Amino acid sequence: MRQSPLVVVANRLPVDDGVALDGACEWRRSPGGLVGALHPILKKTPAVWVGWAGGSGPAPAVPDIDGVRMHAVPLSDEDMRDHYEGFANATLWPLYHDAVEQPVYHRRWWEAYQRVNQRFAEAAAEAAEPGAVVWVQDYHLQLVPGLLRALRPDLRIGFFLHVPFPPPELFMQLPRRAELLLGMLGADLVGFQRAQAAHNFAQLAAKVLKLPATDRRIAVDDRMVRIGAFPVSIDMAEMEALSRRPEVVQRARRLRADLGDPQHVILSIDRMDYTKGIEQRLKAYSELIANGHIKVRDTVMVQVAVPSRERVEQYQVLRERVEREVGRINGEFGRVGEPAIHYLTQPFDRTELAALYRIADIMAVTPLRDGMNLVAKEYVAARVDDAGALLLSEFAGAAAEFTQAYLVNPHDLEGLKLTLMHALQATPTDVTDRMRSMRDHLRTYDIRAWARAYLTALDQTGALADRLAPA
Ligand code: G6P
Repeated sequence: MRQSPLVVVANRLPVDDGVALDGACEWRRSPGGLVGALHPILKKTPAVWVGWAGGSGPAPAVPDIDGVRMHAVPLSDEDMRDHYEGFANATLWPLYHDAVEQPVYHRRWWEAYQRVNQRFAEAAAEAAEPGAVVWVQDYHLQLVPGLLRALRPDLRIGFFLHVPFPPPELFMQLPRRAELLLGMLGADLVGFQRAQAAHNFAQLAAKVLKLPATDRRIAVDDRMVRIGAFPVSIDMAEMEALSRRPEVVQRARRLRADLGDPQHVILSIDRMDYTKGIEQRLKAYSELIANGHIKVRDTVMVQVAVPSRERVEQYQVLRERVEREVGRINGEFGRVGEPAIHYLTQPFDRTELAALYRIADIMAVTPLRDGMNLVAKEYVAARVDDAGALLLSEFAGAAAEFTQAYLVNPHDLEGLKLTLMHALQATPTDVTDRMRSMRDHLRTYDIRAWARAYLTALDQTGALADRLAPA
């Protein structure tokens, strides 16, 4: 197998499978999220992406995407159930998000997590040329850095966690906490979204593993592991260009007309996930209608909630609750042809997404806890007109950068209602000043700046970061 100087290892490959017109299976680059974030970097380097193609059974052959080689790792039905849905998304995900849902612990899931991490580590070892840089992503693969170092001590290994890293009081619940920490410490550089997460990690390394640790480095055997915050971002130029496209502008006009040309459009776009604060937001909105602060004819809400991890019980329960609440609100406050909430669970293409951003007078991003939240950043990037108010949870990583957003504590229902009304009634000058300052920030700290900062810190020779220099 051809080996590469840069290997990205992530749970998912950056592809969606679809069916082409001739009936054959067709792979496309999937939009948004982590995948969208790394794409601009990989286009410039002979890179391999190691990941799961979705589904169970033998790994499919996935063609290169924009010159990046795709190396699919197979998962069996049992691996999907116990690794992906189990340990990753019913143990680690809730635990790392403030345990807003109860994390579930099963020994069988831990065994699957080890087994699948070993498989990913072996695939990465195979794909990396001598001395290569391997960049491991996210909570599904926390053991990979340690396992990979054991296989290939010649590699430079980075690990980046896209989700929050919890405070010691929570992390200490994990039955296999020492192994997970040691797995991450197999890396040369461990990156987090926020400085607080790096601090939590250092405290745990000292407490659980008795290692000498500061918020910048941790000594492990004869190595020094560096840690730090590298807030992830988006491709601002790409979103701006998309948002300016005539078909997007036209579509936005059409969407607004279809909504009945209201005075205000409030938009939320989330994965259907209990961390996103969807229920709290719906409650705030319905109380504002009930007490007459908001009139359905003047103000409409569009809630996009794309189903996610649908076989995990907590996600099924959430969907039922959200749908019952949307039904209740529309039943109580809507009229024929005039629902209080336009509720959509379909995934959108980028054009439709950009058009929605363009018509959102208020973008409500109010998660209970979120590593970063790239929707907030995409919205700011799409507002090439410098208009639009971002209502943003203090508990999203993005809040550390967007201090000019209308910040809220989503647990505080009265505060949420007040801030939403404040944003609705803000003067155009206030809205524009805030949006401009957020756009200035994003222009400097875009996806390339993120990758450059991380890879410069990881690969101290600077060879990889050079490739990312602006053309
Ligand atoms: C979060 C995680 C990503 C994950 C994404 C979608 O953003 O940090 O690693 O890919 O959610 O979730 P899914 O379970 O569909 O991969």
